Amino acid sequence: MTTIVADLRDRLPCSDESVDVVLSYNTIECLPNPQEMLAEVARVLRPGGRAVIAHVDFDSMVIAGADADLDRRVCHAFADDAQSWMDHADGRIGRKLGLLLARSPLDLVGVEPLLAWSTAFTGHAKDRVDQIRKALLSAARHGRCAVAPEEVEAWYTSVCEADQLGGFFFSELAFIAVAEKVRSGRSGHGAGSHDGWQTAHVRAGSMPHLPTAA
Ligand SMILES: C[S@@+](CC[C@H](N)C(=O)[O-])C[C@H]1O[C@@H](n2cnc3c(N)ncnc32)[C@H](O)[C@@H]1O
Repeated sequence: MTTIVADLRDRLPCSDESVDVVLSYNTIECLPNPQEMLAEVARVLRPGGRAVIAHVDFDSMVIAGADADLDRRVCHAFADDAQSWMDHADGRIGRKLGLLLARSPLDLVGVEPLLAWSTAFTGHAKDRVDQIRKALLSAARHGRCAVAPEEVEAWYTSVCEADQLGGFFFSELAFIAVAEKVRSGRSGHGAGSHDGWQTAHVRAGSMPHLPTAA
């Protein structure tokens, strides 16, 4: 395997049809023009090669602390924030991946949801909450945030309270889109609409014990 460091806004430093598989996770939202990057992916993939482009849809993240209004405002502020290291951010890119790939020179094979959820304020859920707190405090310091620093801290306290009282919940939905470079002479899978009632994969959590109905 060879490691190449490159700016994904530019032409990839790879020759045409030289790559077997492209894997991208939580990166495409940073690109102002994701279609250009997908055109480059199509150029460098070998015929029959596949691209797996996955991203969390940050605007559908759910965090239940002890203050519902703060939960909503903080989650939306995080989804909308382009952090200082990003040229661009699209917190709704996850839901758009299927359409982006269907409109690219590649042939969309399918889209799968991946749900991570937890009722415990540990592991990935805690890492994400800590990341949101840090990012929004920094955004507020730079005048970019719709939520004031005191509110960010009040939200963090409310999440800790919910954890102690047993009401904490976290969920994050990612979409994994797979597309293929069509071999010449073959017809593709078609770029029609894709939908489904697919059972989402369960990660980082166990079913909360809901009270049974009387
Ligand atoms: C949220 S991080 C995800 C990193 C990694 N894929 C992961 O899941 O841990 C987004 C990554 O996109 C990279 N990135 C953002 N804009 C980029 C660009 N124009 N070209 C190349 N990489 C870029 C950043 O350097 C960062 O590593």
